Amino acid sequence: MGLSLQVQQVLAELEAFGRANDQREPDRARKMLNLERETAELLRAFVLSARRKRVLEIGTSNGYSAIWLASTLQSIPGSAPLLTIEKDAGKAQSARTNLQKAGLADHAVVLDGPATDLVSALPGPFDCVFFDADRISAPEQLRLLLPKLTGDALLLADNVLSHPEEIAGYLKEFDELPDFVTTTVPVGKGLHVAVRSGTAR
Ligand SMILES: C[S@@+](CC[C@H](N)C(=O)[O-])C[C@H]1O[C@@H](n2cnc3c(N)ncnc32)[C@H](O)[C@@H]1O
Repeated sequence: MGLSLQVQQVLAELEAFGRANDQREPDRARKMLNLERETAELLRAFVLSARRKRVLEIGTSNGYSAIWLASTLQSIPGSAPLLTIEKDAGKAQSARTNLQKAGLADHAVVLDGPATDLVSALPGPFDCVFFDADRISAPEQLRLLLPKLTGDALLLADNVLSHPEEIAGYLKEFDELPDFVTTTVPVGKGLHVAVRSGTAR
């Protein structure tokens, strides 16, 4: 199923807003840093083809990738709303507004606060996690999430090619996780893909 016209319109607005905002805004914390469209399309293809039902996103910003993920989940029978985490309360509120505009308010829950604290409190299980926040705390978040992942979990992480030093710790975790098959797709800023080759649980 394609994206609804309403979703396409909101995505186009956010793309224009993000480009203009990030060009003029010198303060990195105030940039939107939205995913490239091609990366978002690939995320959608992965989630759809693997029929993911319990997806967690770490790093919401103003909700661009959350709209892609939530609208994908909407088309998968039996899926839970997307859970997405953002530490900046203002961005989290914008994400809620944008999800609402896209008609996806019932398909995503935006949690605001520091991801590591929130992740440790979430019960799971998750069959897909998308890491798109600060790369430094991603290894700890991954360790906290491991017991909450399904046997066939799909883990995605952006910025592998754009920030290789910052993401090195996250990638290193997989040295100790032989049941994950991994690769990096050179799309956008570089998307790391890890799939647990176990059975669904
Ligand atoms: C690259 S942006 C996310 C872009 C978003 N996925 C999109 O495509 O629209 C990263 C976001 O993660 C948030 N962030 C960074 N570190 C975080 C943390 N430890 N906990 C929660 N949010 C965090 C930042 O405030 C920022 O909005």
